[in-house]
Amino acid sequence: CSLHHIFYIVGCGLQIFTSSRAIANGLLAIAYLTVSVLSHRTSLPAPMFSRNDVSIWSILKKCIGMELSKIAMPVILNEPLSFLQRLTEYMEHTYLIHQANTTTDSMERMKCVAAFAVSAVASQWERTGKPFNPLLGETYELIREDLGFRWMSEQVSHHPPVSAFHAEGLQEDFLFHGSIYPKLKFWGKSVEAEPKGIISLELPKYNEAYTWTNPTCCVHNIIVGQLWIEQYGNVEVINHKTGERCSLIFKPCGLFGKELHKVEGYILDKSKKKLCAIYGKWTECLYTVDADTFDAHKKSDKKNSEEKKSEYLIRPEEMPLPDGDTVQVIPGSELIWRIAPRPDNSAEFYAFSTFAMQLNELEEGMKGVLPPTDCRLRPDIRHMEKGDIDSASAEKKRVEEKQRLSRKNRSKSTEEWKTRWFHQGTNPHNKAQDWLYSNSYWDRNYSLLPDIY
Ligand SMILES: *[C@@H]1O[C@H](CO)[C@@H](O)[C@H](O)[C@H]1NC(C)=O
Ligand SMILES: *[C@@H]1O[C@H](CO)[C@@H](O)[C@H](O)[C@H]1NC(C)=O
Ligand SMILES: *[C@@H]1O[C@H](CO)[C@@H](O)[C@H](O)[C@H]1NC(C)=O
Repeated sequence: CSLHHIFYIVGCGLQIFTSSRAIANGLLAIAYLTVSVLSHRTSLPAPMFSRNDVSIWSILKKCIGMELSKIAMPVILNEPLSFLQRLTEYMEHTYLIHQANTTTDSMERMKCVAAFAVSAVASQWERTGKPFNPLLGETYELIREDLGFRWMSEQVSHHPPVSAFHAEGLQEDFLFHGSIYPKLKFWGKSVEAEPKGIISLELPKYNEAYTWTNPTCCVHNIIVGQLWIEQYGNVEVINHKTGERCSLIFKPCGLFGKELHKVEGYILDKSKKKLCAIYGKWTECLYTVDADTFDAHKKSDKKNSEEKKSEYLIRPEEMPLPDGDTVQVIPGSELIWRIAPRPDNSAEFYAFSTFAMQLNELEEGMKGVLPPTDCRLRPDIRHMEKGDIDSASAEKKRVEEKQRLSRKNRSKSTEEWKTRWFHQGTNPHNKAQDWLYSNSYWDRNYSLLPDIY
């Protein structure tokens, strides 16, 4: 954490004073002094409001089946983070990528990468607040020396809303990038987010690239009852060099609640032969085990559960009870990932993890270093974080109106919106349309940035 601060302060210093080493050194000394009194925060400035007394239904009943980005949602349903910041939570378990880099066996690397892909969505657990829609041109950066990465992202399209991101290992052991279009659908009792877009991970040491897409996320009971989150769908992690793949199913909870949060699948070689099985829950942990052992276990488990199925019957709109708190571990399994516990104060603060708690922190050393488009400078999110819902709501309206106006201005002229840090192109690994990083963000040339707040 201390290095993190230095990076900001020194990064700024070096840019201004590159010609004067003495001053830069002086700055470094000051940076150290500053660092000793700073540390990452462990809570937000104000606890969240209760959502119980808001009549959401009166707002939403007209909107069934509509795409959610077209509905003006009350701020009280939000969490004080932009979607760009929420995306950054993919990086919480970056150690799994470092682990993949140091492993010489490609199947072992795939285990780490698959665990990273699952861990990347684990922060969604109990996170029922909606992140703020990023404004066109909004950016977010995060440098975590302690976790060994730096990240930057930009909102590159408004309709449809597309967020592009690019992260790199500080030791140059990986590149992680992608573009996400969270297609949200409102279904009356639930909101479903289908994260369209591709995610790529590159390990230069092995000249390998992996790609995958995230599962669908669904928030249940948004009108009445207990809110809960489900993720379902297939996730296939492909190693484009070896042809190996990890085929995972995020299971829908089902009528019996028995499959709640379960993830399972296999790592296959390029001739589709099963190399090993992976199983667990995205909310908890993941194990690997020999494929035959796994199949034998499933067979006997299925027989047992048919005998006692009726015990699990629940009404589908209730929060289903998981079958036991933990994953049933098959003998011979190896743990590959376990979720870090949420901090004790998490429930007061939008179910944030410790990592999430720090995302919108505006540290002293960042002021004047961050571009003016950074999420941390967004007034509506800042107000919400401080617990001032009325100002948050007013500012949200204002910045969205400003966005509409400048869009209208552009449509009247020949001027077109230009993304600043990404350009559209073809993903070199799977040939799909993607947004590619233009490689210059960390030079910190802010000369062409729009005024969006
Ligand atoms: C990546 O792995 C290689 C080979 O094991 C190792 O030499 C290198 O130090 C690793 N890089 C990092 C940042 O761990
Ligand atoms: C739109 O154009 C008008 C007139 O040129 C200008 O005054 C205004 O600041 C512009 N608004 C935005 C948001 O760009
Ligand atoms: C910053 O970017 C602008 C526009 O691309 C360019 O004209 C200018 O020379 C750059 N400034 C520096 C210091 O590189």
